[in-house]
Parts: sequence; structure tokens; C-alpha cells
Amino acid sequence: MSGGDAARMIVDLRSDTVTKPTPAMREAMAAAEVGDDVYAEDPTVNALQAEVAALFGHEAALFAPTGSMANQIAIQLVVPRADELLCDADAHVVNYEVGAAAAIGGVSTRTWPARGADLDPDEIAAMIRPDGYHAVTTRAIAVEQTHNRAGGAVLPLATLERLRSVADDAGLALHCDGARIWHAHVADGVPLATYGRLFDTLSVCLSKGLGAPVGSLVVGSAEKIEKARWIRKRMGGGMRQVGVLAAAGQYALRHHIARLADDHARAARLASALAPFGVVDVEAVRTNLVPLDLTKSPVDALALGAAARDAGVLVSVMGPHSARLVTHLDVDDAGIDRAIEVLTRVLS
Ligand SMILES: Cc1ncc(COP(=O)(O)O)c(C=O)c1O
Repeated sequence: MSGGDAARMIVDLRSDTVTKPTPAMREAMAAAEVGDDVYAEDPTVNALQAEVAALFGHEAALFAPTGSMANQIAIQLVVPRADELLCDADAHVVNYEVGAAAAIGGVSTRTWPARGADLDPDEIAAMIRPDGYHAVTTRAIAVEQTHNRAGGAVLPLATLERLRSVADDAGLALHCDGARIWHAHVADGVPLATYGRLFDTLSVCLSKGLGAPVGSLVVGSAEKIEKARWIRKRMGGGMRQVGVLAAAGQYALRHHIARLADDHARAARLASALAPFGVVDVEAVRTNLVPLDLTKSPVDALALGAAARDAGVLVSVMGPHSARLVTHLDVDDAGIDRAIEVLTRVLS
């Protein structure tokens, strides 16, 4: 690469949601057959829903515009109004969905302390409150796979199996915010259907790492998904000729899952290169997120973000001393080389 090319290149490591549809994905979108999906007459949406349900070994799935809406539909499916959902304190469903569980679903939430992949099913079992006259009744548990705020941590299958037993013993539903479940599947080699059978409901995203411009699905039993259609409509998520978007999702599922291994390898390379600055736990980087802890660095997160941006590398500033790098479809090896060059210079 010439000096001029390097200077013009923007390496956007803020999020895996910044990807743009590839030319082949755009072709698939342009060729999609469409119909009115509020009448369930969009053949491409129907095919995508069937495909995703089958991938997770469930009866049905429902296309939704966003991961947040898919999560909130699922929460309303498994928790009646005024009852309770348990999740960890860093969960997307309680931190980044603008209070939707309470505001829209009328759902109470209670959290356990976030410990990334070190989730303790016994600790969660001890929090469950049965039906009673005074207490809020616990109805469901939600986990996140992979975990966003925990730096893309992968919950081990054995932990999830123990959690399933906890839920069964208490008669609770188990929901998975699987926005990046594909990454867990690629990192740990666990089949998607194996994850699927552990959960009553899942939400999965096509626009985080898989490269589709938009789209998520709620996955569950036929009965639940029938009800989910109704909840989605009430939330304003009934869409019309949306097969053009579903086609992008189908393309992403067929072509962009296995390649996540490249994103994981690039994240690991970034982590190793920055490890000498004491800002990253290399062992903890298992998927495509690289959290930076700058508490011991002379450079704070705002300064890092600004200096990197001036050099064409975009990072997420998460707090005064924390930042995040995310690898994805639109960052190749040359981009990682460039990011390493810039970030090591800024951190030195
Ligand atoms: C773990 C997780 N769940 C849900 C979402 C919500 O997705 P959306 O932005 O499509 O609403 C995100 C978004 O990044 C996420 O990281």
C-alpha cells in the first residue's frame, strides 16, 4: 500500500453493525420475490423464517426490524405484565433497549452481577421468586450469547445446560439474546440447533457481523411465534414488501457465518499487538470484540479515540478509560495492520 492509500483508508472498528451490503448481497436483494408480509405473503421472508427456525431446531421464526424489537417481543412472550425477568446487570435487554421491557412490556427486571462468561446457575437459582401474594413472580431468565459488554465472551455450553435445568426445576422460560450467537457457534463449534434446544425463545441478528443491512428474528414454538406476530404488529413492526431485506439475511446466513473465524483471528491479532501496553486481556478475546481497559494507560479513552480518528482509525469510546475495537466483514488484514500501526503509536 502506498503512503497515500494508507492515509485515505478509514478503518472503522467501532461496531460490527457498520458493514455495508456486498455487491453479491445487493444482487440477491434486487432479485428477491416480495409480497405483503403483514399478510404473511412475502415468499422471501417466509423462506428466511423457515430457514432460521430449522437452523435452531425450532418450529417457527418471525422477522423483525431490529434486535431490540426481537428481544422485546420475546420478553413479552415469556413474561406476563408485572412479572419478572432475571438477567445480568450488563445485559443489552436492560442497558440498551431504553427501558422497553418496563415501558412496553410492563415487565419487572432484576439483575445478577455481570461476570461475563463466568455465569453461575446456582446464584441465579437462588434469586428466583415463586408465585406469592407479595413478591413479584419470576417467569423467565435471559442470557446473552455472545455477551456484548463482556467483550464478546462465549457462555460455555455446559453452563447453559445447567441453567436450563435451573429454569426447568422452577418452571421458568429461558430466553437467549443471540444477536451474535453465530460468533459463539464459530468460536466453540457448538451447533446452532444445540443452542436452540436449550432456549424457549431466541432473538438472532443478521446485521451484526453477518453483514446484512437490517433484520433480526425471534425463534420459538409455532404457538409462540403466532403470538409474536401480534406483538410485533402492536409495536409497529409489521412491515410490507420486506423480502428485499430478508434476501440480504438469507445471503448473509449462507455466505457469512463460516468467515466469522477470520474476524475472530483478526481480533486476536489486534489484542496480541496491543497486549504489551497492558490494555487488553488477550485470553479473554474469543470472538470479534476487543475491549480496551485504559485505567493503567497514560492515554485516556477520549484521547485515544480522537488521535486514532485523526489517523483514520475509528474506535468506540465506552467510558473515560475504556474503549472497544470490533472486527467485521468490512475490515480486512490490511485494515488490521493499519489499526495496529496507529493504535500502537497512540498508546506508546
Ligand atoms: C447483544 C445485543 N443484543 C441486541 C442488540 C440490539 O440490536 P439492534 O441495534 O438491532 O436493536 C445489540 C446491538 O448491538 C446487541 O449487541
